[in-house]
Amino acid sequence: MQVDVLLGLQWGDEGKGKIVDVLASRYQIVARFQGGPNAGHTLVINGKKFVLHTIPSGIFRENLINLIGNGVVLDPITLEREIRQLAEADVHVQDRLLVSRKAHLILPTHRYLDAASESAKGSSKIGSTLKGIGPTYMDKTGRNGLRTGDIHLAGFDQRYEALKKKHLHLISLYPEIEFDLAAEEEKWMASLDTLRQLKQVDGEYLLHDALMSGQRVLAEGAQGSLLDIDFGTYPFVTSSNTITAGVCTGLGIAPQRIGEVYGVTKAYCTRVGSGPFPTELNDAHGEFLRKAGHEFGSTTGRPRRCGWIDLPLLKYTIMLNGVTQLVLTKIDVMNAMSEIKAAVAYQYGGKIHSNVPYDLNLVEVDPQWHSFAGWESELAAANSFAELPPACRSYIQYLEEFLHVPVTMVSTGPERESLILKESSVQPA
Ligand code: GDP
Ligand code: IMO
Ligand code: MG
Repeated sequence: MQVDVLLGLQWGDEGKGKIVDVLASRYQIVARFQGGPNAGHTLVINGKKFVLHTIPSGIFRENLINLIGNGVVLDPITLEREIRQLAEADVHVQDRLLVSRKAHLILPTHRYLDAASESAKGSSKIGSTLKGIGPTYMDKTGRNGLRTGDIHLAGFDQRYEALKKKHLHLISLYPEIEFDLAAEEEKWMASLDTLRQLKQVDGEYLLHDALMSGQRVLAEGAQGSLLDIDFGTYPFVTSSNTITAGVCTGLGIAPQRIGEVYGVTKAYCTRVGSGPFPTELNDAHGEFLRKAGHEFGSTTGRPRRCGWIDLPLLKYTIMLNGVTQLVLTKIDVMNAMSEIKAAVAYQYGGKIHSNVPYDLNLVEVDPQWHSFAGWESELAAANSFAELPPACRSYIQYLEEFLHVPVTMVSTGPERESLILKESSVQPA
């Protein structure tokens, strides 16, 4: 069997969690392969909203294993809180949640370092979620990190103290900031008990055996491809490989085992935090999208920056990920708009370009627009592609033809049920 992949094609928050929850019923295992509690994946089930940060979005499906893979960085405090919130909703994770021994631990001092480093950057700050992601991945690649499996080993306490000491030394190099280390450390130590009770596994063997026995696996991405450490809008990115390639290293999957790649994109575009955003709308349209789409961060509550869909960027991330199917979300947010736009190229240096420039941070690109008539009607009653208003169908068809990838799912609301599955005649390029 192959591992199917679902990931975001923009700057995160494309609606990945909702789609994974819907698709999960077709799989036996859902696995997160990178990122950490910087993610916020929202699921609306029977009118109740849940936001998952660390636990994969298949957790609401019975008889399905959810794996936190080795590529994830894990904060036991967040994990414990999530487990507790799920238990309050009568979802008991004990038999359904597995943690890779090789997943790295986020220490309280990683969060402290994140906050100190961001604060020192002043106006050039990245807009990190301050969950300790960057410092934890730095310790991983610097070969200093603590892994989840280490909590069962002798000498863990000493290794923790040594790493903390190193962090405190680094923190002393930054201007002082507020951080109640003693309180955070107490919570962290207590939360390790929850982690100790979870089943830890060698995820790479578990997945290999599962695939060999015919089980179906879905890899769930966090963040979005434009936040990828290598190909995103560096340095305004996260610290992991968010693209399909990250599935191989973040779960121990061989490249030829990758199957379908579901690329999720909003029908418009958002970004939270700093960095370039060529199609950003700093006007009433942007305000409209923020309000209609409830565009406020699931993890930090910050208002998300909003703009039109950017097709040169989507072409780029489709190329990087090998996307085989597009999932278009939040199309309902544009129901009341009389005109919709999409960037189809960039003008800079006196020329029209279809590629993304190396220095998108520095080059002022002038997007070239294609304009569409809005459908100006509700979509709630539409259960099939054919029932969508003609203007809405034309918009989707244009995207398919421009991007050379079929749109196979259209999401028309936050609930599980608001999803139109569509067979497309467009063949992948
Ligand atoms: P993720 O990080 O990619 O899982 O996305 P988030 O959960 O951070 O943000 C997506 C937001 O849009 C959440 O509040 C979802 O409940 C909501 N959402 C998802 N799909 C749709 C949709 O098709 N229409 C509308 N209106 N909201 C949606
Ligand atoms: P999901 O999985 C949107 C952004 C932050 C910041 C940058 C670096 O919900 O789509 P970090 O905390 O990783 O050091 O922040 O990346 N960011 C996200 N934006 N959705 C996310 O996750 C994000 N995770 C990180 O806002 O700009
Ligand atoms: Mg999110």
